[in-house]
Amino acid sequence: MRTLVLSANELNTAQIAADILKNGGLVALPTETVYGLGANGLDPDAVAQIFTVKGRPQDNPLILHIADPEQMALFCHHIPEAAYALAKAFWPGPLTIVLPAKDIVPLSTRANLPTVAVRCPDCDITREIIRRAGVPIAAPSANISGKPSTTTAQHVYDDHAGKIPLIVDGGACRVGVESTIVDLTEARPRLLRPGGITPEQLKAVLGDLLIDKAVTASIDRDTVVKAPGMKYRHYAPAEPVVIVAGSREKAAEYIHRHFVPGDRVLCFEEELPLYADCDPLSYGREADVETLCAGLFAALRELDDASIHQVFARCPEGDGVAFAVQNRLKKAAAFHIIDAEVEV
Ligand code: TXA
Ligand code: MG
Repeated sequence: MRTLVLSANELNTAQIAADILKNGGLVALPTETVYGLGANGLDPDAVAQIFTVKGRPQDNPLILHIADPEQMALFCHHIPEAAYALAKAFWPGPLTIVLPAKDIVPLSTRANLPTVAVRCPDCDITREIIRRAGVPIAAPSANISGKPSTTTAQHVYDDHAGKIPLIVDGGACRVGVESTIVDLTEARPRLLRPGGITPEQLKAVLGDLLIDKAVTASIDRDTVVKAPGMKYRHYAPAEPVVIVAGSREKAAEYIHRHFVPGDRVLCFEEELPLYADCDPLSYGREADVETLCAGLFAALRELDDASIHQVFARCPEGDGVAFAVQNRLKKAAAFHIIDAEVEV
């Protein structure tokens, strides 16, 4: 199969993409977070192809993307006030809400769960495609399962050329990490995955928020978790990654002491001069955490190279969107963290 790449700016792109989706095909779509691999979310056969092409475990449910916030009620029931409040505050935007599913949502889309994850992305071309397709679009991140997420059309092409008919190129994703996921199906709202909408922003609307343990700790494969995707070691480059925490100076001392040829250093732009002899790669500026979010997956992809021996990574501290960067980087590192303030 030839994979066509069409710019979001071209006149016919939305209609061509919508036609493929309506006919049960797959289309890679840009969003403000990461690129998604989309299919008609109401068609079990179309959805099945997503799992095959990505190599995705069947027990990992998909997010249903809607064109407008009002469509939430078409696919979810028992919608609490909190869901409307979140939708009003953050949609379109990088937030996914888990709610009880209506029967119209096929079991394959939600991996047999009684709930469904819904999101209205902040991306004009993709919302236009969903509108024209006339169906909600199920879309996981477009990466091959186990690889870092795709934040450019080129990343999607690298993973899926020849396997899908169309990639819609909307440029580099603005946020760069996947959406924040909040579960509203229990008595208290629960954060299942941090992202561009921060815990502080959510608390300002909800008044209350539990942080699921899978967000901050390592979860083994047999543990039952709310978001099945959380137990997989996503975003993992081919070689081991170790996070080196601590002050700039202590971290540099530790890394220089342990660095051997074949290793790489993933650091902040401000730190590049410190690692001039350690093959450094910067993923953004520590002083502007949004740039770290936006650059993380492209950097992890560049480091996904079996010839690399080990990666020493620097991780931003603090809350806000730094929380999302910490979560993704810790997962890439399989929670292997060294504190350079105490270890030598
Ligand atoms: O930003 C995003 O959310 C991107 C773009 C394409 O929208 N999509 C994305 O999808 O990151 P994916 O499949 O890579 O991650 C979806 C996560 C998984 O961890 C999955 O387990 C969880 O959402 N999820 C989906 N449905 C769920 C449900 N009903 N209950 C709990 N977790 C759910
Ligand atoms: Mg994913």
